[in-house]
Amino acid sequence: MKILVMNGPNLNMLGIREPDKYGRETYDDLLIKIRSYCKERGIEVDFYQSNHEGALVDRIQQAYFDNTDAIVINPGAYTHTSIALLDAVKSVMIPTAEVHISNVKEREDFRQISYIRAACCFTVMGHGTDGYLEAIDYLHETIGEK
Ligand code: DQA
Repeated sequence: MKILVMNGPNLNMLGIREPDKYGRETYDDLLIKIRSYCKERGIEVDFYQSNHEGALVDRIQQAYFDNTDAIVINPGAYTHTSIALLDAVKSVMIPTAEVHISNVKEREDFRQISYIRAACCFTVMGHGTDGYLEAIDYLHETIGEK
């Protein structure tokens, strides 16, 4: 099974950015944690982070052509604004899980909308970076070994 873990804008600033909300783990720490989690389970994992909406759309489309089985995405602020990311996930028909490190439900009104959620089979929020692992478990269990 091949999973793509995607992160949107400002998630490369993990560990520096608002640690009270997002914790002290850095983006590199996150990659190390996910890589070893996937290795233990025999899952192939690829990572992508961009601060640019179109680049994220491009990478989702690429996932279709490189036979990615599942996507884990934290779209950052594009969660609340991007119909383009929603359409991209719908276009590729790859099972996709939405992750938020913070509990967006308890935050500002403008964070209450998630456009991409309509195309996602699983959402996790407020579990810190462990949410990525939960999303991987969900996809691994539902899609199974490939
Ligand atoms: C976030 C929540 C978003 O509202 C915010 O814009 C982010 C990170 C999270 O992981 O909690 O960049 O997706």
